[in-house]
Amino acid sequence: MSAAEQTLLILGATGDLTKRLLLPGLGGLLAAGHGEGLSVIGSSRAELDQARWRERVADSLAAGNARGGQAEAVVRSTRYIQADIAREDDMRRLLNACRGQVIVFFALAPAVTLTASKVLCEVELPPGTRLVLEKPFGTDAASAAALNDLLARLVPEDQVYRVDHYLGMSTVLNILGLRFANRMLEPVLRAEHVESVDIVFDETLALEGRAGYYDRAGALIDMIQSHSLQVLSLVAMEAPSTLGARDVRDAKAQVLRASRVWDDDPARWSRRARYTAGVVDGRRLPSYVDEEGVVLDRDTETLAEVVLAVDTWRWAGVPFRLRAGKALRTQRKEVVITFRAPRWVPSGLTGYDQPDRLRIGLDPDVIGLDFNVSGRGHPLVIDPFTLEAGVGAGHLPAYGAVLKGVLEGDPRLSVRGDTAVECWRIVEPVLKAWRDGSVPLEDYPAGSARPAGW
Ligand code: BG6
Repeated sequence: MSAAEQTLLILGATGDLTKRLLLPGLGGLLAAGHGEGLSVIGSSRAELDQARWRERVADSLAAGNARGGQAEAVVRSTRYIQADIAREDDMRRLLNACRGQVIVFFALAPAVTLTASKVLCEVELPPGTRLVLEKPFGTDAASAAALNDLLARLVPEDQVYRVDHYLGMSTVLNILGLRFANRMLEPVLRAEHVESVDIVFDETLALEGRAGYYDRAGALIDMIQSHSLQVLSLVAMEAPSTLGARDVRDAKAQVLRASRVWDDDPARWSRRARYTAGVVDGRRLPSYVDEEGVVLDRDTETLAEVVLAVDTWRWAGVPFRLRAGKALRTQRKEVVITFRAPRWVPSGLTGYDQPDRLRIGLDPDVIGLDFNVSGRGHPLVIDPFTLEAGVGAGHLPAYGAVLKGVLEGDPRLSVRGDTAVECWRIVEPVLKAWRDGSVPLEDYPAGSARPAGW
């Protein structure tokens, strides 16, 4: 076997994730010249002929801008194998079809991932096999822990890649550069100087035909439980001494272990809402409950907010407000660090009415600083001022960056098992309060900024 030979075995190859994220992400990676020696095998229970599969792979890779030799080689060599992954024989057949190092990508719903992992326990895995799992990882803390135990029977933790594509976003990673390579910023990023931190993911996108998944997840699980908490862990972590996987993931885990709902009172410190009919970006949208596949009784929220405390020496007392929602008026994905008011504004200097803020825009990728100056209009009147700079998207798309880690055996950008469990532990009290009806489900017209009163 040539050292560079690898096979990406996609379980759930005919699904939405493979088409929308995985293959386009791979396309971006191939376009950047990575992925030499890689072959792709797609599998699912559906019947699909080879020509049709190849066409799908070509289209999805092209959606990630892949062209040229590497992409053509992948399209030429890719195969589709119809299989039932609940059957050991089928799983063996799939593994036997792989060449070189095997990378099993579970593009499957959590329950099916669990079944497939159990079957893998009965089948001998080739040495060095890597396992890749998309979110949601489990359905609660207990199931995530159980899945971790199961995976640990298959391969060592360093060969398990729990994907969170936000960890591949260059601006998210830039949080580390911004915090730890600037003498000016790091000392003030602590409770003594920071009033609050907001992590906002407002999307204009709505359900986009994903009821099958989203209606069981909702905004809290879809975004906050995974992406927002990962971002929080980077914003709040202590400086790791290296950017090695162990140091970075230890530092993130420490923050998440210290995080909990503010005052341990989810009824008071969480909110939820669901969109009704409206217009977003000129598109008329039906009410969420009228979308195909939505089940009314599930009371799924499309907008969620939760306030968390991070109980560390650095951050105790600072509220971290996490909000994520769909079908909103404006797309806004950013971290906003709001500083405390100055201890004293000299009397005679008037007009101070807003604190300074550091903004880390995640899409578009910008860093902004809102601060106060005096003198532009009248020398003794405060005049808020914004400095903003685009930092440019990274050379790889986010999903491509995460996949690069998988292909190269670098787990730095994937979520460690203990962290996945912590993220569930943090949101579980909120989910319970919502189930118990302690937090009303409000509504907002699609295309509005947010519900009245938020
Ligand atoms: C996905 C969620 O993980 O992230 C989607 O399932 C969401 O609901 C998407 O739209 C947002 O990602 P991005 O990269 O568009 O900010």
